[in-house]
Amino acid sequence: ATHQIQTIAQIQAVLANERSLGRSIGFVPTMGALHEGHLSLIEQARKDHDVVVVSIFVNPLQFGEGEDFETYPRDIHKDQETCQEAGVDYVFYPSVEEMYPDVASVELKVVQGVDVLCGKSRPGHFDGMATVVLKLFHIIQPDTAYFGQKDAQQVAVVKQMVKTLAVPVSIHACPTVRESDGLAKSSRNVYLTAEERKQAPMLYQSLLDVKPLALSGAQRDELISFVRDRISTISSGEIDYVDVLSYPKLEAEASLSGTIIIALAYQFSRARLIDHILIEV
Ligand code: PAJ
Repeated sequence: ATHQIQTIAQIQAVLANERSLGRSIGFVPTMGALHEGHLSLIEQARKDHDVVVVSIFVNPLQFGEGEDFETYPRDIHKDQETCQEAGVDYVFYPSVEEMYPDVASVELKVVQGVDVLCGKSRPGHFDGMATVVLKLFHIIQPDTAYFGQKDAQQVAVVKQMVKTLAVPVSIHACPTVRESDGLAKSSRNVYLTAEERKQAPMLYQSLLDVKPLALSGAQRDELISFVRDRISTISSGEIDYVDVLSYPKLEAEASLSGTIIIALAYQFSRARLIDHILIEV
């Protein structure tokens, strides 16, 4: 059976017991509104570990002014059922007061790889994300934590943080799960209007279409313009960014070699969606 736990003290107690029995712990941090992307991480954790913990916490610290913290899709009962069906051992779903009861005495600031992409358009987002992830790591003390490659900059920031601060958790990045028409699964897809949902697969399609151009040695600027042209055919919404960077360093290099990321963010009427591809050039 899946145990549903809301307090830090309680989850720490049950996991201390699991650890004392020699069981390994796999951890999947989420903000809920669980879909098949999240489930793929849970499945991987289930394969690798004796105990699987999923956290569900919409973290106010990582939402900026005017972003969707209040309206972020929440359905804890459905998520609890989903976790039950997926064989999760513990669902940890603290309140905001439980996670942040006092004025913070220290702040985490991510200083590498955040002057680009979502770090640039969402100031403070990765500081808030890193803070909650590190706090969750301290609470859960997992052997492995599972992240989606879908949020490529997020997993890069987490990997770097773990290295910088010698956090004893290994980070496992899992491939992006997509709808059959290529749209990356996201909790925010529910915000799309019917018309936007029809057009949204163009985001990934533009990345697939630019791939041959990237492989044929095109310049960074050409790749950016190509993708911009493609997705400007979407009639509602606007481009937040399109960029081509080295990966995982996320640096803008004029001459492209090694692994590169072609990444985009697009703002529909309510949903801001991101996608990317990695290419060896
Ligand atoms: P959330 O958006 O709920 O995502 C939780 C995890 O699921 C992240 O690691 C994300 O990359 C992964 N994920 C989402 N969609 C995916 C898809 N289509 N394929 C594969 N993996 C996917 O990311 C967060 O929450 C938060 O920032 C969090 C890390 C929980 C910190 O608050």
